[in-house]
Amino acid sequence: MERSEGQGLSVFDLPKVELHVHLDGAIKPETILHFGRKRGISLPADSAEGLSQHISYNKPLTLTQFLEKFAIYMPAVAGDHDAVRRIAYELVEMKAKEGVIYVEVRYSPHLLANCSVCPVPWDQKEGDLTPDEVVNLVNQGLRDGERDFNIKARSILCCMRHMPSWSMEVVELCKKYQNDTVVAIDIAGDELVAGTFPEHRKAYEEAERCGIHRTVHAGEIGSPSVIREAIDVLKAERIGHGYHVLEDPGLYRELLDRKIHFEACPLSSILTGACDPDYRKHPVIQFMSDKANYSLNSDDPLIFNSTIHTDYKIAKQSLGFTEEEFKRVNINAAESSFLPEEEKEELLSKLYEAYGMVPNNPS
Ligand code: NI
Repeated sequence: MERSEGQGLSVFDLPKVELHVHLDGAIKPETILHFGRKRGISLPADSAEGLSQHISYNKPLTLTQFLEKFAIYMPAVAGDHDAVRRIAYELVEMKAKEGVIYVEVRYSPHLLANCSVCPVPWDQKEGDLTPDEVVNLVNQGLRDGERDFNIKARSILCCMRHMPSWSMEVVELCKKYQNDTVVAIDIAGDELVAGTFPEHRKAYEEAERCGIHRTVHAGEIGSPSVIREAIDVLKAERIGHGYHVLEDPGLYRELLDRKIHFEACPLSSILTGACDPDYRKHPVIQFMSDKANYSLNSDDPLIFNSTIHTDYKIAKQSLGFTEEEFKRVNINAAESSFLPEEEKEELLSKLYEAYGMVPNNPS
């Protein structure tokens, strides 16, 4: 993937809001190498560039093949206290450099742990890093990053579709750290795993009861019924991806009317095989023309060898994205963020000011 930002992209360098990026899909290759060496964990290359070539790819794979990429490098960082804190800190640094002023970063605490988690992921030996301590360390990294890079960072804890037995602990961690960077719960992983398990449903009921916000990966590669379930059963306020909503016009109309937010990820949508590689058929084009509530996000920049600029560049060059749409999308993202009202207003004011817009009278 070409990394140059090209000409005429300057407006897209204005402050941005990013709502859908995975911590474990946004690690610097240098950091993976560092911890691989330090911990004696073998990796397929010994330079950052070489490693990046093994991890990233630029032609569509299936979602399952995509998920297999994580197994290459997660053993180097999972289960290590310093690594977990550092990847959170570096994510904030990375986003600040990209002009993001507010980011919601998501991850599964269980997939970074090596203790009190069954099964222990990535074939790790049992260690001493629990999912609870993972959240604590990520929070430290995010707070240090906020302080050093002057942006705001919040987190979303992910349940995994295929591991319903983790979900109640995920919601308990959301509750424990609710005022300490954690703002919401998510379900990630392979949505072709059939149905929503009762454990996921119970976790989401508890989240709703406790005022924890809710998003769900749905309709990325799965059918509109996964979105329907996310909205009706799990009471999701936002949908991760949601491209396949277009196959059910009734549902799409309902979500438009309810201003449900779609966390769209253009490059990801092609590389995971979620959408037709012909950009002319891309769902974001429909979202734009219907003035849907959606945002642009990078999802897993390590694996796509990308930055948020890559997604904006695709939107501009291949989807007909304009300066006005850039502003509208980022204001939508701020309005659909999981910040408390007062902080949301503050974020919106910053955007209005940077975009030269009059508050309460956008565009
Ligand atoms: Ni995602």
